[in-house]
Amino acid sequence: MQLKNIHKRFGQVHANNNISVTFHPGRVIGILGENGAGKSTLMKIIAGYQPADSGEIWLDGRPVNYHDPRDAISHGIGMLQQDPLDIGAFSVLENFVYGQSGGILLNRKTSRQQLIALCQQFNFELDPDTPVSQLSIAQRQQLEIIRLLGLGVKVLILDEPTTGISAAQKEQLFNTLKRLAKEQNMTILLVSHKLEDVLALCDEVIVLRAGQLVGDMQMPTTKAALVELMFGAQIQPVKRESRLQPNTPIVLDMQQVHLHDGRLDIPQINFSLRAGEVIGLAGLDGSGQALFMRACAGLIKPHAGRVFVKGQDLTGQSYHQFNRSGVIFAASGRLEEGLIADMTLTEHIALMYEQNTWINWRRAHQFTQRQIERFNVRGKPDDPIQALSGGNQQRVLMGLLPENATALILEQPTRGLDVDSARWIWDQLLTKNSAIIYSSADLDEIMTYSDRIIVFYAGRMKVIDDPHQVTVSDLGHYIGGDFS
Ligand SMILES: Nc1ncnc2c1ncn2[C@@H]1O[C@H](COP(=O)(O)OP(=O)(O)OP(=O)(O)O)[C@@H](O)[C@H]1O
Ligand SMILES: [Mg+2]
Repeated sequence: MQLKNIHKRFGQVHANNNISVTFHPGRVIGILGENGAGKSTLMKIIAGYQPADSGEIWLDGRPVNYHDPRDAISHGIGMLQQDPLDIGAFSVLENFVYGQSGGILLNRKTSRQQLIALCQQFNFELDPDTPVSQLSIAQRQQLEIIRLLGLGVKVLILDEPTTGISAAQKEQLFNTLKRLAKEQNMTILLVSHKLEDVLALCDEVIVLRAGQLVGDMQMPTTKAALVELMFGAQIQPVKRESRLQPNTPIVLDMQQVHLHDGRLDIPQINFSLRAGEVIGLAGLDGSGQALFMRACAGLIKPHAGRVFVKGQDLTGQSYHQFNRSGVIFAASGRLEEGLIADMTLTEHIALMYEQNTWINWRRAHQFTQRQIERFNVRGKPDDPIQALSGGNQQRVLMGLLPENATALILEQPTRGLDVDSARWIWDQLLTKNSAIIYSSADLDEIMTYSDRIIVFYAGRMKVIDDPHQVTVSDLGHYIGGDFS
């Protein structure tokens, strides 16, 4: 596949600026670039979700024209969405046949066999009759991959596919992608901020910066070389020294707390958070971090034990009560929980800050403009949130956090951010001087920013009081359940 002089503008933003590149079959190609660089825009153009303003897409030596994703799929190009679409009411099988000519009316038996055969081929465990709503993120991805394969796709696009899946699931996904490239001669385009992933999986990378194609590189290479290609210079991680004094007051205290949710059980938590302390939570998805954080914020009530905020017993109280005591929770799902897609930036700010029934829109608008400048968001006050790139949405979410909170409970605060933006978010967070409990899948980040680390494995917790005493590979062992 060849792209020739692709341009795309959104108002003032030149999101794709004269992009020309050739993608060869049989290869996994990494698409890199800082937040807002134009990666998702380009992928959506290739996959037919939006048209380019100008430029051409060539397949097999001929220019092609298509106008929507179905049309693109019929040309052999399919894309997994960054925020998976919710078609929860359908079963796995119904979903699988969706888009095939004949659709639901297809011979169910043949389709079922095809589905089962594809699952076996890639070791996917998908039951044809399970409703899609009951699938994990990883299973939805698997379903979407085999659905696109069933439709005969030869170019497969994935936009940050490893967000929200475990390390084991990621390995399985990567093995699948490798096989699709090598055995079926497909072209795989992978948008990712995780350089380790890119190094492990890709045959080559291209880099976008401010809408332009600024570089490409063949593998193997080093992380440092990729970072240099992306940012033009090597970035040194900042070393964090603990700001804790021995007599720093406790702001959040859990005594003999028992948490229980579905299959997960955390039998006994004794934990105190000190003012200004930063605690990083590591662990695979579903190991207990999410439960713990929600209990810290009063979103989940403990089965037993007591929770104190600034000495006040808030056991069993609502999030609203915790909030009034200065505990703020921000969930990782950007559009799912934290932000509302159709609302503009100004509306979000107004919701957060305006206490009165009558919103002062002029003031909200001005304040939004200031927050946009402060948090370096690429967007305007009247832009709907969904028009922003993923990373910029994350910046907005961070911009909405109050200045003087006692404790910020942040689920994956830098999810989907490039290295530079992540560091910038941390600079902002640390100047707030609130205590912070955060989770992250990035062990380097956990090591860099935490005064203490808690590793979760199947509801067990291992507290590391001095991160300087452990290495990233130690953490890796703990995360896998090796607590000794
Ligand atoms: N529908 C839209 N309307 C207006 N502006 C848009 C729209 N889609 C993207 N943009 C803008 O185009 C630029 C590129 O966005 P894009 O989503 O392609 O970035 P990205 O490289 O995928 O970033 P991230 O890594 O944060 O996901 C951004 O400035 C973004 O705000
Ligand atoms: Mg994007």
